[in-house]
Amino acid sequence: MNILIMGPAGAGKGTMSSHICAAFTVPHISTGDMLRENVAEGTKLGLQAKAYMEGGHLVPDEVINGMVEERLAKDDCAGGYLLDGFPRTLVQAQELTKIGERTGRPVQVVLVLNVERKILEDRITGRRICPKCGAIYHVRNHPTKKEGICDVCGSSLVQRKDDTLEKLDARMEEYERLTKPVIDYYRNMGLVYEIDASKNQDVTFEQVKKVLSDLA
Ligand code: AP5
Repeated sequence: MNILIMGPAGAGKGTMSSHICAAFTVPHISTGDMLRENVAEGTKLGLQAKAYMEGGHLVPDEVINGMVEERLAKDDCAGGYLLDGFPRTLVQAQELTKIGERTGRPVQVVLVLNVERKILEDRITGRRICPKCGAIYHVRNHPTKKEGICDVCGSSLVQRKDDTLEKLDARMEEYERLTKPVIDYYRNMGLVYEIDASKNQDVTFEQVKKVLSDLA
């Protein structure tokens, strides 16, 4: 199945993605993770993206569209994919429709995670991530066994530079203005399934699993 997962910053897209990929065996393609890897490696694309990301702003469409097409054309996407963080503008959504036609891999279902602002603030400020393996934790909701150390690979955890309340304001403003119209674009195509993602991970995943199992 070709799946999109959407929702505001901190809604739990990355967290739900790891559950979905384990249960439905599709590759997880996160444009945020891909961009962060490029920034860490100091590639040309990473240098173009860095300031936008750290300011909580979207990276320009032309930087990101080519990166996504290249990734979706890879062999591991032949049996389906889970795209997280793309598209975030109408231009990206229209481009993804064309990519779907060119690759024969169109979007089939769009999961929209809904969470109220107060909960997002808590999730963003409490999030810690592993810079090595990408595991996602939260200081209260999902703590590590040993404080500050990744349970999976033993690396020291870090806080993302955009995980502040000030940057959340900028991210939410762009989400409302630029990304909400993308949800309407897919709603008009009959592909949108709304998920109440304010509950804990297990309860949230039960809703997701039901939608995907019914469609499979
Ligand atoms: P990206 O990495 O995609 O960030 P985002 O959309 O802001 O989403 P987050 O990663 O912050 O949150 P999430 O929903 O994945 O939540 P998570 O699962 O971690 O993008 C970063 C930047 O890259 C963008 O700002 C932009 O600059 C650029 N970019 C990326 N794609 C782009 C594009 N297409 N176009 C242009 N620019 C682009 O969970 C958050 C926390 O909550 C965690 O601590 C977790 O443990 C906890 N948690 C999660 N679910 C639950 C739950 N159900 N109950 C309790 N706690 C939970």
